[in-house]
Amino acid sequence: MNDKMVKALNEQINNELYASYLYLSMSAWFETQNWPGFAKWMKVQSQEEYEHAMKIYDFLIDRGQTVVLAAIAAPKAEWKKPIDAFKDAMAHEKKVTGNFQDLTDLAIKLKDHATQIFLSWFVTEQVEEEKNADEVIQALVKIGDSTGALFMLDRQLGKRED
Ligand code: FEO
Repeated sequence: MNDKMVKALNEQINNELYASYLYLSMSAWFETQNWPGFAKWMKVQSQEEYEHAMKIYDFLIDRGQTVVLAAIAAPKAEWKKPIDAFKDAMAHEKKVTGNFQDLTDLAIKLKDHATQIFLSWFVTEQVEEEKNADEVIQALVKIGDSTGALFMLDRQLGKRED
């Protein structure tokens, strides 16, 4: 594999691990605010991000490349309101969508068809990731300051499967 592609995929492992860390930090914050459902949703999302990192890790290993793990930046630890955390989640997902577009552009440029096909799963997944975050944001916008409705949404999001 081309060195540039390997380096970019290693960087994406770091981006996914950072996302996992960010969602875990959000989960911990929701726990402190006594919103167990939001906390569960974030914890499941954190686990998904770890799995995304491992998908890239396994791909590099399968192709005989070297995985180089770098330091993971510390995520933010506090938000003012639930919607602020979900807006940060959405902003991060948009950044990740851009990462996969850039990675795909690079694979096309290098005529690395195997990597291009591998990346297509993530391009599709990002549509889902942005949709999931947006659905919660839209619900939170409608809820506004209604504690009762927020309580119901917390209960609903807490049903997210591992
Ligand atoms: Fe791994 Fe939420 O993108």
